[in-house]
Amino acid sequence: MSERAREVILLERPEGAPQAHDFGVKEVKLPPLASGQVRVHNTWLSLDPYMRLYLTGLPGAHPPLEKGETLDGGAVGEVVASEAAELPVGTAVFSPRHGWRDAYVADAKELRALDPGLGPLQYHLGIFGLIGVTACAGIEAVLDPKPGQTLFVSGAAGAVGSVAVQLAKLRGARVIASAGSAEKGRWLTEELGADVFVNYRADDLGRALRDFAPDGIDLYFDNVGGDHLEAAMDCMKVGGRIALCGSIAQYDSDNYRAGPGNFFTAIEKGLTLEGFNAGLYAKQAPTYIAQLAGLLKAGDLIWRETVVDGFNSLVPAFCDLLRGGNTGKMLVRLT
Ligand SMILES: NC(=O)c1ccc[n+]([C@@H]2O[C@H](COP(=O)([O-])OP(=O)(O)OC[C@H]3O[C@@H](n4cnc5c(N)ncnc54)[C@H](OP(=O)(O)O)[C@@H]3O)[C@@H](O)[C@H]2O)c1
Repeated sequence: MSERAREVILLERPEGAPQAHDFGVKEVKLPPLASGQVRVHNTWLSLDPYMRLYLTGLPGAHPPLEKGETLDGGAVGEVVASEAAELPVGTAVFSPRHGWRDAYVADAKELRALDPGLGPLQYHLGIFGLIGVTACAGIEAVLDPKPGQTLFVSGAAGAVGSVAVQLAKLRGARVIASAGSAEKGRWLTEELGADVFVNYRADDLGRALRDFAPDGIDLYFDNVGGDHLEAAMDCMKVGGRIALCGSIAQYDSDNYRAGPGNFFTAIEKGLTLEGFNAGLYAKQAPTYIAQLAGLLKAGDLIWRETVVDGFNSLVPAFCDLLRGGNTGKMLVRLT
């Protein structure tokens, strides 16, 4: 038996911040299953800032999407029909690319069966997936903070940032956290343990960093790039180290790949800027995920999600993510 699925497609390349009219919905007839294939109904869809990058025409790790093509991304779903013995009907599965649609047919080998015992299934799109691995890699492998060091995390109330803040605190660092609202600031300081908060929308970020770290910043976990990276570089100690995780402040610009305008500061101060991504830490991922699961179980880590419901919420939620509408991980739940 075949059935229909709805998929979100790109209609127009966004100019600046994505708007609802840049996207459309396509209905497709799913093909009958071939041997080794399964049909999946998605239950959770991930929304991530990197998706903004393949909407541009610029080449990158993910090739640019053409107009009319379906967006992709992480998804968790349930197998509803199967021609693959390893994924029987009822299996919960993760796909790194079948997001932005409510159902699909795929080869079983493209998917990963999920262990429901590890925690809520949507955690595999966040703390037990890309997000957790990224936060761990940035803190544990790249920055490796020591007690008493001053560590700045930007985008701190988001998915990666909120985990990075807590991992840095667990290692005894003094954490400066920045985000875009007073409410996010209260969460960061009162619940996640950040030592100080900067609301970059209301305060002068550079001045606040100098006030909070008059002797300079040792380590910076950069989720934002642009003005945040420049302000942090100006405030780094000699020999300071920066983990380059993302540059969301630049994703709406004509050239999100541009570097900081004060790059020469790296020479003057002997800074180390180390770019990294979760894919480079695939080998360490199982260890990181076990570590995060242990922290969650012990109550030593807070994981928060912003959940919106329904297929029609996908596009508005994506636009909202890029404007700061989420605290923690942005997810769409399908029933
Ligand atoms: N290297 C990797 O492997 C990897 C993996 C995952 C994510 N990332 C990167 O890590 C960063 C965070 O990703 P995430 O998934 O955790 O997203 P997120 O932080 O949960 O959501 C994005 C947040 O960015 C903030 N933001 C938007 N525009 C901004 C601007 N112009 N200046 C400052 N902040 C802005 C918003 O919060 P405010 O209210 O604070 O503005 C928004 O909530 C992104 O740059 C992403 O591309 C990298």
